[in-house]
Amino acid sequence: MDKLVIRGGTPLLGTVRISGAKNAALPCMAAALLTDEPVILENIPQVRDIETTRKLLAAMGADVELGYGRANHRTTICARTLAAPEASYELVKTMRASTLVLGPLVARCGRAHVSLPGGCAIGARPIDLHIKGLERLGAKITQEHGYVEATADRLHGAEIVFDKITVTGTEDLLMAATLAEGETVMQNCAREPEVADLAALLNAMGAKITGAGTSTIRIKGVSKLHGARHRIIPDRIEAGTFIIAGALTGGDLNITGCDPAHLTTILAKLEETGVKTTVKTDSVRVMGDQPLRAADMNTEEYPGFPTDMQAQYMALATQAEGTSIVTENIFENRFMHAQELLRMGANIKIEGRRAIVQGKSALSGAAVLASDLRASASLVLAALVADGETIIDRVYHLDRGYEKIEEKLKAVGAQIRRVGNILPPR
Ligand code: UD1
Repeated sequence: MDKLVIRGGTPLLGTVRISGAKNAALPCMAAALLTDEPVILENIPQVRDIETTRKLLAAMGADVELGYGRANHRTTICARTLAAPEASYELVKTMRASTLVLGPLVARCGRAHVSLPGGCAIGARPIDLHIKGLERLGAKITQEHGYVEATADRLHGAEIVFDKITVTGTEDLLMAATLAEGETVMQNCAREPEVADLAALLNAMGAKITGAGTSTIRIKGVSKLHGARHRIIPDRIEAGTFIIAGALTGGDLNITGCDPAHLTTILAKLEETGVKTTVKTDSVRVMGDQPLRAADMNTEEYPGFPTDMQAQYMALATQAEGTSIVTENIFENRFMHAQELLRMGANIKIEGRRAIVQGKSALSGAAVLASDLRASASLVLAALVADGETIIDRVYHLDRGYEKIEEKLKAVGAQIRRVGNILPPR
């Protein structure tokens, strides 16, 4: 199992190019199931979740070409026939977003057989809202042997009000409603840029969607969708992670190929902590030449501070002077990184949904364990400022969502290397 070995203390200097957004690419790949014509997606990130989705779609009978060139990362998906509209437990258990195929399959094939995701490291993460919404669209749903079976002759438009804001739930139902008969109005939708990106692809495929990116989305159902070409938006979480890396290490980083409009809340919070940034149309420069100050942070649905940046923010808070209270409002069990940060010398107390971080702590390198994707990122950030060497185990979590993170960090001066099995430091 791969590990990352990081020696801290080097300021990061130079340019980092941001990849396409994993969380936009995943629903866009699922959307290709809605048509029998080819869908071409550009700016696909080279991460493991994309490979898992390729396997998932291929197992159903879709042709999926996936290529990572120097100039562009692209996938062409053609779901001409879908012999097996199914998602097995083997694939769903490694990537919860696999449930994104539920809506498209039932809309296109009239049947979907998809494994329930089960528990995951960052909380229960049920899919009841996906199921309730599909039922509103006329699907018959049964659950047996850990699988959801959804059937429908043709879905019909409906009013759907989400009890709780859900990103993939909004995306799943948005895709299903494109092929339903009549109009669907969805209220209390997720407003994440990834939802708007999916809608842009669907509209390019012939769907009639308005309001994506706001809390009310209207979809006029059509009988057929066609192929399209679409470029995935930049990854705002990867951008945010590198911005914090620049700030933490006292570096000077130019983060290019990003969309600063999607980073407004993150940049405002970082400014509160004393981080200086300058923003251009598609880049952010971060200069880490000021001492950091503590600032409380609450995770919220977009446009609030993203839960996917909470762990990275906590790493920053360990280096800020004073007490920062970090409140996690989206997931109930998303503080696993705190235990590992403590092992590196951080001062963090967990009280339910709140983490009280007392800074500034001198961090020291240690052997630590990554527990989930974003937790791994926070350990990388902490390691970049820790004294001595940190060995991060289970980096496969990181590989799910960050494209070649060690290469990108190394190119701006980080002392980082990937190794196979090694002994912990003495
Ligand atoms: C997506 C993102 C993930 C991010 C999360 C929150 C993708 C592929 N993943 O995950 O990176 O951390 O949004 O921004 O885009 N819930 C229910 N019932 C449901 C669905 C969700 O109770 O049917 C709850 C969840 O347990 C959680 C909250 O709603 O507490 C938000 O979850 P949701 O927005 O659905 O997260 P994902 O879409 O899985």
